[in-house]
Amino acid sequence: MRNQADRIIIFDTTLRDGEQCPGATLNIDEKLIIAKQLARLGVDIIEAGFAFASPGDFEAVKKIAQIVGTEDGPVICSLARAIKADIEAAAAALKPAVHGRIHTFISTSDIHLEYQLRKSRAEVLAIAEEMVAYAKSFMDDVEFSPMDAARSDPQFLYQVLERAIAAGATTVNIPDTVGYTTPSEFGDMIKGIIENVPNIDQAIISVHGHNDLGLAVANFLEAVKNGARQLECTINGIGERAGNAALEELVMALHVRRQYFNPFLGRSEDSEAPLTNIDTKQIYKTSRLVSNLTGMLVQPNKAIVGANAFAHESGIHQDGVLKNKLTYEIMDAQLIGLTDNQIVLGKHSGRNAFGTRLKELGFELSETELNKAFVRFKELADKKKEISDWDLEAIVNDEIQQSPALFQVELVQVSCGSNAKPTATVTLRTPDGEELTDAAIGTGPVDAVYKAINRVVNVPNDLIEFSVQSVTGGIDALGEVTIRLKYESRVFSGHAANTDIIVASAQAYVNALNRLYSALQKEVKEEVTA
Ligand code: KIV
Ligand code: ZN
Repeated sequence: MRNQADRIIIFDTTLRDGEQCPGATLNIDEKLIIAKQLARLGVDIIEAGFAFASPGDFEAVKKIAQIVGTEDGPVICSLARAIKADIEAAAAALKPAVHGRIHTFISTSDIHLEYQLRKSRAEVLAIAEEMVAYAKSFMDDVEFSPMDAARSDPQFLYQVLERAIAAGATTVNIPDTVGYTTPSEFGDMIKGIIENVPNIDQAIISVHGHNDLGLAVANFLEAVKNGARQLECTINGIGERAGNAALEELVMALHVRRQYFNPFLGRSEDSEAPLTNIDTKQIYKTSRLVSNLTGMLVQPNKAIVGANAFAHESGIHQDGVLKNKLTYEIMDAQLIGLTDNQIVLGKHSGRNAFGTRLKELGFELSETELNKAFVRFKELADKKKEISDWDLEAIVNDEIQQSPALFQVELVQVSCGSNAKPTATVTLRTPDGEELTDAAIGTGPVDAVYKAINRVVNVPNDLIEFSVQSVTGGIDALGEVTIRLKYESRVFSGHAANTDIIVASAQAYVNALNRLYSALQKEVKEEVTA
């Protein structure tokens, strides 16, 4: 069995729960890029999606199962309600995976039973048992979640878990669905499960939790101390509402404080053996990739992966760190793969050196992707003398971002200044290959560009977030623009990098509009075929 209870199993749900946050919607190619990176990061299980939810979700789970679910790759998992059709869809999508898992769930809290499911406890017990057995008829590896477990009556929870394990669940996951519990309460709940579920030794105990009170990571660590061995988490903590427990925080807490946690896993306090299978050097890169592709920005003070996580501003701290790093640093930035912003390439670097450096940074690009990225690199090298690893990463992330290329930016021109009316002219290539030009006046240059683009694309939307970040220091730095726009109740994101932030702004906006436009086209197609 791949589950070893003497270490912590990392179950990543970035592509399922993480993708549930507004605007984080990813297309199949983007999900595959993230899944490949999660495999490099060393997660044990990838929850690739909810196969029954839509044809797109089904295809994404299937493709990830085919390409990432190899013999020595991670377990690929699909979520399924405790409903036959859901379980069948999950099983079919997971078929190509060497190691597949069906994750089925049903609510157990009285409030969910009364108002959402409208079912009695006896009915829920019977469904859980029957559906776990049904999932088991497709594959050995079955996970069961009693949704809203943290607000469920513990006595009822014990019964449901016992029946699910008897029916074949190999992992039982305890979700704090609404982010309500506290660390000691959650720890006691895991302890209670171990003491009161007679067949609990036949399953791994997992935890899943949301961050509504900012307690998810603390709750999980307390659960580990009390016997939980699988942690369900997401990169950068993205997910429903306030998000999920953040993978990077859990992994680094278990790594940095392993002497504290070792005894809870039956190890000697000074054991240096890692507590997870995660290659911590891949953490920063994975964080950036997920942030760029989902448009979910990482706050600067975010633990582990925030821009300020390793910056020392106070003079006293700087003085201490210069004398001995350990005075104010509990971990080395290199541990999460943050290199010193090395200057590696320049104008005269060839395609070979460029490709080699990208490989060293862990990027696996196809020939076409490499060629496209090399053209971007040369353009950048003409404007920027010194190109760092961070610039390379921004170029590659930009190039592999798979927003559908419906509208393309051909030209952006602005005129603005202290005594001028900000005016923009843009030319876009339309999905039919036609070049359309329009112009507009705005409150500033970006507003003018966006108004001009809107005149061409003509899909009403509200810009709800606009952010510019510099990739490196220096006046010639690449600017990364991330935007989120709202169309009716849906949110779409766009991202782009360029040394000219007005051009980056236009590209990011068009990327988001392309996602919106493609979603609308899909709906029209579905209506026609219905
Ligand atoms: O938060 C939750 O309860 C979930 C379940 C489906 C595990 O996401
Ligand atoms: Zn959840």
